[in-house]
Amino acid sequence: MSITAQATPNIALIKYWGNRNNDLRLPAGDSFSMTLDQPVVEITVDHSPTLVVDSYEMDGTLKILTEKHITRFQKHLDLTKKYLTKLGKAQAIPESVKLSIRSKIPPSIGLASSAAVFGCLAKAYSGLIEKEIALDLRQQSVIGRLGSGSAARSLYGGYAALWAKSGDEIDSSYSEQIADENHWNLHDIIIVPSHEEKKVGSTEGHATAWSSPHYEKRLEAIRTRRQQECIDAVLKHDFEKLQAVVEEDALDMHNVMMTSTPSLKYLTDETYRIMDEIDELKGNGLEVLYTMDAGPTVHLFCTDAARAQVVDYAKSQKNCTIFEAKVGPGACILL
Ligand code: PMV
Repeated sequence: MSITAQATPNIALIKYWGNRNNDLRLPAGDSFSMTLDQPVVEITVDHSPTLVVDSYEMDGTLKILTEKHITRFQKHLDLTKKYLTKLGKAQAIPESVKLSIRSKIPPSIGLASSAAVFGCLAKAYSGLIEKEIALDLRQQSVIGRLGSGSAARSLYGGYAALWAKSGDEIDSSYSEQIADENHWNLHDIIIVPSHEEKKVGSTEGHATAWSSPHYEKRLEAIRTRRQQECIDAVLKHDFEKLQAVVEEDALDMHNVMMTSTPSLKYLTDETYRIMDEIDELKGNGLEVLYTMDAGPTVHLFCTDAARAQVVDYAKSQKNCTIFEAKVGPGACILL
């Protein structure tokens, strides 16, 4: 019997950057995010004698996947089996699988598609093996993390933390929900200045983090202060505090990226211009903040009250694609 699951991207407010174990994607620091209500990814998983991955574009055409993509799905399946072996249920998952991936996420817009894909796959695998072993959400988040660290957070709706913890056990890092999607209706107005495919993806990028002279300081700031400040700000609906800590963390991550070897420069002149203009709008009392992942795309988080003005600003940008989302529910099984 096949199983279909659905998931959406999440955007980090405290960023995950760098691993203590690259192979198992065990993060070096905690992170915290908001799950979006859209765009969705749907994956159907079925038994198959060998791994087959069919991936469809938004318009339904079959996408040609590279060898690198297929290898990543095979490795994720192998690691999932390794984890189930640890749980004493090695035989729960079939020898191999057929995956049909239908993504509504426009390619290369800087929207965490791997978070949605592996969050969705973790949910689908959990559904497929449910009769053998009922995995709780924390265990499902481990399976997501094995494909893409940030995917661990897409299992949950609302606001979720990925806890780094310590050790080299496959399940020593996992995520958990801090507040659900009804807690605070924040919006993410996304400005995409460039559709260019990024040169260094996050999987390769994470491995460079330790070469930055600023990396250990970053980890310490997250551990001793930032993660908790960000969680408190969300729990207390304190936008001013949220804005300060989220922007501090995003800029700090980009400083680490730029000072790594090789240097990773994801932000462009357009990104910096938008940040400056947003600083001006904030000065006029607008509840808006910016954050950027591994690309020039700017995520403008804002409250209900600020949304219309932020959308107007976004729409006034020339040669940019705009995408609107808000806080949403986590991954689920589709019946
Ligand atoms: O999950 P990955 O390996 O694609 O890494 C995500 C990295 C960032 O998007 C830059 C930060 C984050 O926490 O999502």
